[in-house]
Amino acid sequence: MTETVSASEGLLTQHYRGWDLAIVLYRVSHSCTRLGIVGWPFAKMVHWISRAVTSCDIDPRARIEKGVRVPHSVGVVIGETTTIGAGTIVMPGVVIGARVIGDTYKRHADVGRNVLIGAGAKILGAVRVGDGAQIGANSVVLRDVPAGAKVFGIPATVAENKDA
Ligand SMILES: CC(C)(COP(=O)(O)OP(=O)(O)OC[C@H]1O[C@@H](n2cnc3c(N)ncnc32)[C@H](O)[C@@H]1OP(=O)(O)O)[C@@H](O)C(=O)NCCC(=O)NCCS
Repeated sequence: MTETVSASEGLLTQHYRGWDLAIVLYRVSHSCTRLGIVGWPFAKMVHWISRAVTSCDIDPRARIEKGVRVPHSVGVVIGETTTIGAGTIVMPGVVIGARVIGDTYKRHADVGRNVLIGAGAKILGAVRVGDGAQIGANSVVLRDVPAGAKVFGIPATVAENKDA
């Protein structure tokens, strides 16, 4: 592939056309949560099956827009209060988790649209990741990421901001 892959231009979404079993099963489990206490056991059952089959752990209460991809799916963990915008690509080994274990309020990230989250990256706490941002593989994100920015490292810092 010779063209530069730009998340903000949606090329990533074109490259990663298709669907993922982990996302399909997440949508089934998320639908069950809408039934309230009656649906919760079914949501958890589908969640467990998905974990066993895909090695991808997406909490049924997370909110994920259409077109989000988890290519390979292995090792992905997405927490309860996460939101992810359309067209975002979540590579293997990504964790979107709480910074402080045991909190019960909003404690996971809001990830914008057309974001690339590189393999092994961790996004911890209720940070915001702007539309079209790119998070380098194995980075640990602890602060907000501006739209269109590339961040790398531990803790992740901005390398370039296309909107600047
Ligand atoms: C976010 C990403 C797309 C940016 O790649 P890029 O556009 O080639 O990055 P740039 O060319 O702007 O690199 C800027 C600098 O950061 C460095 N860099 C790139 N990725 C890095 C990373 N993950 N960690 C640390 N530094 C990194 C580059 O070496 C470069 O440094 P230099 O200017 O000193 O040479 C890429 O880093 C990435 O993580 N892609 C995900 C790949 C992936 O998950 N693959 C698994 C598929 S299963």
